[in-house]
Amino acid sequence: MKHNIGISEQHRGAICENLGRVLAGSYALQLQTQYAHWNVRGPFFDSLHQLFQRQYEDLQVAVDELAERIRALGHTAPGSFDEFSKLSAVKQRTDFRNSDEMVACLLEAHETMIHVCKEAIACAGRGGDEATEDLLTERVEIHGKAAWMLRTTLEK
Ligand SMILES: [Fe+2]
Repeated sequence: MKHNIGISEQHRGAICENLGRVLAGSYALQLQTQYAHWNVRGPFFDSLHQLFQRQYEDLQVAVDELAERIRALGHTAPGSFDEFSKLSAVKQRTDFRNSDEMVACLLEAHETMIHVCKEAIACAGRGGDEATEDLLTERVEIHGKAAWMLRTTLEK
């Protein structure tokens, strides 16, 4: 069916490719954060366990919104581990020696996601897609806040 939502077919394709990368990275980061929630050890267990939970719960909501934006633009949302691992700039790790290494890994992943989102925002801007720009601008803000919280826990 034809889409008449004020964004050309060519732009919708490019925007959805970018949204797919944001979705895949967010899903990978959600899983990585949940892994940290489950497996964190050490004297700061309780506060980190809870911080990680708040962060993966946000990502859980975000991946749904990102996937549904792709659908609203007329494309199919990626949704398998195979697709996500191909599209994600966030790579999975399980080789942590301590909680600081876990936090540093998650921090780097949030920073990576800011860059992935910014590229997608630029693409949405070229296509005149304000709704996607809004959604992704919020994601940049939330990744920035998560990065700050993780960075702060590494300060001695
Ligand atoms: Fe839990």
